[in-house]
Amino acid sequence: DKGPFRHFMEKEIHEQPEVVGRTLAAYLNLAEGAVQLPSHVDFKAMNRLLIVGCGTAAYAGMVARYSFESLAGLPCEVDIASEFRYRDPAFAPGDAALFISQSGETADTLEALRLCQQAGLITIALTNTPHSTMAREADIVLPTLAGPEIGVASTKAFTCQLAALFALAIAAGAQRGRLDKAGVSAAIADLSAAPRLMGEALNLRQGVDALALDLARSDIVLFLGRNALFPLALEGALKLKEISYIHAEGYAAGELKHGPIALIEEGVAVIVLAPMDALFDKTRSSIEQVRARGARVIAVADEAAAAALDGQAALTLVTPPAGRLSAPIVMAVAVQLIAYLTAVHKGTDVDQPRNLAKSVTVE
Ligand code: F6R
Repeated sequence: DKGPFRHFMEKEIHEQPEVVGRTLAAYLNLAEGAVQLPSHVDFKAMNRLLIVGCGTAAYAGMVARYSFESLAGLPCEVDIASEFRYRDPAFAPGDAALFISQSGETADTLEALRLCQQAGLITIALTNTPHSTMAREADIVLPTLAGPEIGVASTKAFTCQLAALFALAIAAGAQRGRLDKAGVSAAIADLSAAPRLMGEALNLRQGVDALALDLARSDIVLFLGRNALFPLALEGALKLKEISYIHAEGYAAGELKHGPIALIEEGVAVIVLAPMDALFDKTRSSIEQVRARGARVIAVADEAAAAALDGQAALTLVTPPAGRLSAPIVMAVAVQLIAYLTAVHKGTDVDQPRNLAKSVTVE
């Protein structure tokens, strides 16, 4: 039942404040300002965390890597399952492996899990489907509580994955002595603001709609980001290409000069994820570089960043002020709205895009 919404994807985008809140409630004890994981994970015993998934799930892992490393000092590698399972991965003592899958049935991710089990690693499944094969086979099961996701393009499952992964990173930081009590409280305050901020970000819809009409006529759209927003740029591009069939690519902003800047010519749309963070000046200089070559820059920026950009972007979508952990979750809403509304203007079959299946159980 789509309720008042035109598509399941639209409904699922709007459900996010609620389901991310529900997922966080399963991982955090807000009254005590502490992490309370649904199952115990021993991060102290780990020397390295391997994260494996496909598509959007792999991008969630890539976003989380920044937090596992910066908050917990836990070395972390992220792989797409189809590459990981066929490359004879090398393991070391203290490796543990985390598999991210909405369905819990994706063939490559499941086989990667089995491979790690055979190698004797602790395996953890982060899944939205409690009775799935991955949930059955993994040593530890961690839930996302997104509820059934019908739209083929993943939205609420992704943001629930981010919420759960950030809570895990905080837990890892506490266990490994990298975060003291005040550090844990601050991180939890940041993360637990995500549902409210996502609700505010849904108000971007009006502004995005005008942009989407314009993007629907584009042949190519680039997404740029740095740090944890680099994988979010990959996710934004994946979402747009999946449902609007526009050729979209995501890049780390720092890679521009190593190739992708050759694509920039008059009028090419470049969507830049530009929060006011430690790397803002570098992001702004990337904006200048593409603008000088004729790009039509669309900035996704919080108020402070929007003010500092001062007209450097052709259009700025102003997102609510978010901390380091909530920013990727909040900006996810913006890139989802961009993809969704662009596809609506193109008139594509948003919930059932061509050639795609919801669950990829054969490789
Ligand atoms: C993209 C998308 C896919 C899935 C991928 C993994 O919108 O939905 O990229 O994320 O097929 O699926 P799960 O998470 O079920 O393993």
